[in-house]
Amino acid sequence: MVILGIETTCDETAAALVERTEDGRGRILANVVLSQINEHAEFGGVVPEIAARAHVEALDRVIAKAMSEAKVSFHSLDGVAAAAGPGLIGGVIVGLTMAKAIALTHGKPLIAVNHLEAHALTARLTDATPFPYHLFLASGGHTQILGVRGVGDYLRLGGTLDDAIGEAFDKTAKLLGLGYPGGPLVEKEAIRGDPERFALPRPMIGRPDADFSLSGLKTALRLEAEKIAPLADQDVADLCASFQQAVVDVVRDRLRAGLKLFRERLGAPTALVCAGGVAANQAIRKVLHRVAFEVGTSLVAPPPALCTDNGAMIAWAGAERLALGLTDSLATAPRARWPLEEVRKAEHRDAQSREAAVRNP
Ligand code: KG4
Ligand code: ZN
Repeated sequence: MVILGIETTCDETAAALVERTEDGRGRILANVVLSQINEHAEFGGVVPEIAARAHVEALDRVIAKAMSEAKVSFHSLDGVAAAAGPGLIGGVIVGLTMAKAIALTHGKPLIAVNHLEAHALTARLTDATPFPYHLFLASGGHTQILGVRGVGDYLRLGGTLDDAIGEAFDKTAKLLGLGYPGGPLVEKEAIRGDPERFALPRPMIGRPDADFSLSGLKTALRLEAEKIAPLADQDVADLCASFQQAVVDVVRDRLRAGLKLFRERLGAPTALVCAGGVAANQAIRKVLHRVAFEVGTSLVAPPPALCTDNGAMIAWAGAERLALGLTDSLATAPRARWPLEEVRKAEHRDAQSREAAVRNP
């Protein structure tokens, strides 16, 4: 089956075509991502109204480009998927309405995809990772540790009590005057910095749960920066390196705790999987490799371009859902808030027969 996927929940206008073969393998036919970074940069963060208008202006073109790169027509699609939330509601409305219009016009099924589920299932597109796996999902809006038992079947093992990890990177960058988005800029500075110069806290380390709290780290960093202001170039690099090292130490400890909870509740995971924009960070990837090795599993880390927001992950999640017979009505509402626990899952016994029906209609 070939699915069109549309992503507009934040500041990327994206569309992709993904093919899912009968054996459950995925192949990306086209993946077009138009970033709005320049439109938001002067404000130091995403401005929802600007984002929604930019999606309206760009989405037609982005979809047309993806369709022509993949050399498919609307007529030959098997389904149309769009991120229906969670995210900035103006953008979500734009993408979901477009998907509904295409689905209605061409008589195709609509799949309203949860953006977090799309991040969670990306490892199955890139690596065909079997369930159940241990997921570390870290982006600008979310930080969660999950047991992924199946499509639509998520066990939350931990999450952030305040800031998301990507948000902490973005706030650090803003504080140090580096620009937006902060993650890649902080990572770049950290390479030439001294991670031990500033003694920053490692919040939550040692606790048996798998939760995160990052607002204290951010405050500690601000106090250190204020103490030595005005900042020289090397100060900025050292602050970035110290901050990133603290995050890496926290991630290591929280993932160890998460894996312990996973084993107690679900047995051995097939893999440790990372997803979300923060998973593009090389220092974080390195520590994930180490933790996976320690517990005798492997790390599945999709390429950075598929960790940050993109249309292929939406198309793939749509394909996985369609294969299980999980389609959505044209009356489906866009959602600003949509926890993974509220995503609909297939009834297990029915799922197999539905999948067979989709394969041999
Ligand atoms: O998944 P994503 O593209 O969008 C959301 O759904 O939030 O993640 C974007 C977030 C931003 O906060 C960005 O600063 C962070 O991921 N990020 C990084 C890196 N690249 C992106 N954080 C740390 N290091 C990076 N290299
Ligand atoms: Zn995302």
